[in-house]
Amino acid sequence: MLDLVRNRNSGAARDDRKRRLVDAAIGCIGQSGLEGATVVRITRAAGLPPGAVKTHFGSREKLLCAAFDSIGTGLKEALSESIDGLVDPEEILERVIRVHFDPALCNMEALAAWNAFMDASRLRRDGQKTWSEWRDQMRSTLEAQISALDAQDSRYHADSRTLARGLEGLLVLGWQEILSGEGGDEIEQAVAMCRSYLASLFPGRFGGDLDRPARAAGKASPEPALSDLLPRWTYRNPEFFELEMERLFKPNWLLAGHVSEVASPGDYLTFDASGERALVIRSDDGRLRAFHNVCRHRGAMLFNRTRGQCRGDISCPFHGWTYDTRGKLIGIPARRTFRDLDPEKHPLMPLELEVWMGFVFVRFIPGGESLKDIMAPVEHLIVPYRVCDMRPLPGTEYCEIRPYNWKIIHDIDNEGYHVPVGHPSLQQLYGQDYRDTRVGEIPVSRARMNEKRAKSWSVRHYQDLLPRFGHLPEENQRLWLYIGVFPNAVIGLYPDSAEFYMTLPKTPQTTLFRGRAYGLDDDRREVHAARYLNRRINYITDREDEQYVEAMQDGLYSSAFPEQILSDREQGVRDFHKAVQKMLPVANLAEEPALGQVAASNVGMEG
Ligand code: FES
Ligand SMILES: [Fe+2]
Repeated sequence: MLDLVRNRNSGAARDDRKRRLVDAAIGCIGQSGLEGATVVRITRAAGLPPGAVKTHFGSREKLLCAAFDSIGTGLKEALSESIDGLVDPEEILERVIRVHFDPALCNMEALAAWNAFMDASRLRRDGQKTWSEWRDQMRSTLEAQISALDAQDSRYHADSRTLARGLEGLLVLGWQEILSGEGGDEIEQAVAMCRSYLASLFPGRFGGDLDRPARAAGKASPEPALSDLLPRWTYRNPEFFELEMERLFKPNWLLAGHVSEVASPGDYLTFDASGERALVIRSDDGRLRAFHNVCRHRGAMLFNRTRGQCRGDISCPFHGWTYDTRGKLIGIPARRTFRDLDPEKHPLMPLELEVWMGFVFVRFIPGGESLKDIMAPVEHLIVPYRVCDMRPLPGTEYCEIRPYNWKIIHDIDNEGYHVPVGHPSLQQLYGQDYRDTRVGEIPVSRARMNEKRAKSWSVRHYQDLLPRFGHLPEENQRLWLYIGVFPNAVIGLYPDSAEFYMTLPKTPQTTLFRGRAYGLDDDRREVHAARYLNRRINYITDREDEQYVEAMQDGLYSSAFPEQILSDREQGVRDFHKAVQKMLPVANLAEEPALGQVAASNVGMEG
């Protein structure tokens, strides 16, 4: 019995010494940084001999990890305890903010230590588990509560994930401001900043204006300055990029390819956009269908090539779940190991699909106008080309990542004002005839070929060799025509061929640029030559445009970047900007909203 008491006492003493070492380590890191937190300093602060670190933790590194872990554990436990049993989402979010800025947990030493740890990548990796658990707990709590509040207010509905990430960003920003402050009212300011963000999302809650930060109190907020065109912050802001994906890309028709590429059962096309993956496949019954390119078991990608032929059924490369080409789940390896699994309930998730003029389009968020209706004003322009009877022209496909914001590519492409200076060869082809116009709401650009013999080798030979095409009316025989499909695709129509090119944004600063050309069966030698020359002219133009895109992208960061001044010949740029601003009103703001405020500002401006 005596031994038992003695052991218990010595265990408690050991825990106490470990706790003192961890606290001392946090204090030393807070005061002197990671480098300054030496064994001597830590043990002196803990009132223990230097050997205590080795005895209780094995090494200084392990003690530092334990200190990092202890801050995260403290926050995790305090959060769970604080919201346990609560159901009101507003109250839960208030508690989250309070715990996050609780001076007992987040004193200067703990915050300074947290900051030092976040800078030290190796320790971050080691201490990752607790912190990623804390982050996950925070994220799911924020998202669930914001979603619950959102559902209670039928006036606006927004993407809860984006709004929650905004609050998460403010919570971290609050810590940073406390750290870099002078010990004044930074905690109250940080709490007020988070609450006023939530109040702006959910009017009438979170104390509204009464709890705004003191520095804003009593001042009427000035009307925000508006911008006629897309302000430059919209080309680099990650929150705005998220909104673009949700509001511009997912609810609009996105081009997947051409019907000739999915002509036979099993032929498929894929593409990724706005975080989604699309699959278009010709089913065994001859119907074209679209699905999410995602296995219903654990989400693996079913096809990782952009197009191909699926022989037989669709088999997931991960565990081998099998679907027929109509999307039905027909095979599950070791089926009996899944209790109560009804395959009927797990077909591939369908997507909306529409074929327009031979091109295949997919929409991730269903409902809304058909593409045929949207494009009705320009249908008569494209019909004579018989695009649906065309086939891919060999060697014309491209698909490359470019280090630019997707909108800059369209900004360059949407106007002809730069052609005389920027594209000397194309200018010789177009002469003075190039025009950007709109037919209804659809951007249309056209140029009748200049018959004055060009100096450019490619253009001169194209002028000479381009034959007549029996299926085209007289006015199309020597016309280059472009039709825009908002938000991200252009269809080019030439006497000899047709093409599409499109942007698929990956990040605010990277975009997949892809395209392909198609033509009717026509074996005349001069048609082959004209197609070759056409590709050459377009290739040269594209390389030139890339230089201008790069120059504009770099210019966006210059303090001397001008307000955009547009000529009438740049109306296409204005129209594109207006279309984006109409769908995302926050893009009217001249000044970039504060961190975490883009989605909220957008919701506010939609009303
Ligand atoms: S993820 Fe497809 S079978 Fe497991
Ligand atoms: Fe150009």
